[in-house]
Amino acid sequence: MQIKRFGVSLEEELLEKLDKLVIQNHFPNRSQAIRFLIHESLVEKDWDENKIVAGAIVIVYDHHRRELQSKSTNLQHDYHELILSVQHVHLDHHNCLETIAVKGKAKKLRELADKLIGLKGIVHGKLVMTSAQ
Ligand code: NI
Repeated sequence: MQIKRFGVSLEEELLEKLDKLVIQNHFPNRSQAIRFLIHESLVEKDWDENKIVAGAIVIVYDHHRRELQSKSTNLQHDYHELILSVQHVHLDHHNCLETIAVKGKAKKLRELADKLIGLKGIVHGKLVMTSAQ
């Protein structure tokens, strides 16, 4: 891919904020920070416009709650066309961490994430939204 250079004019205060971001996020330089911010904004737009996107739903739950596990499995079967992979890790004696990689229409992914995270007994859940391109 061809790299093009361009000049950016910024208020001193805003430039200081950009440099802080570079340090905090361990970006190698300002260009990488700007790339990151552009992609962040594009990903957000794709999700808002219900485009084909990708992401990961992370849930933590106690596997002793049998009804919870079967409800989660039923939901995952209902939305099987969106699910790319499921990774199950036994965190300790009680808790399981599941990472469900998903791809599809943004609204559908949100719907599945909301239903899974909203299941009674889920300790914690989060949807990580990213791009499918
Ligand atoms: Ni487990």
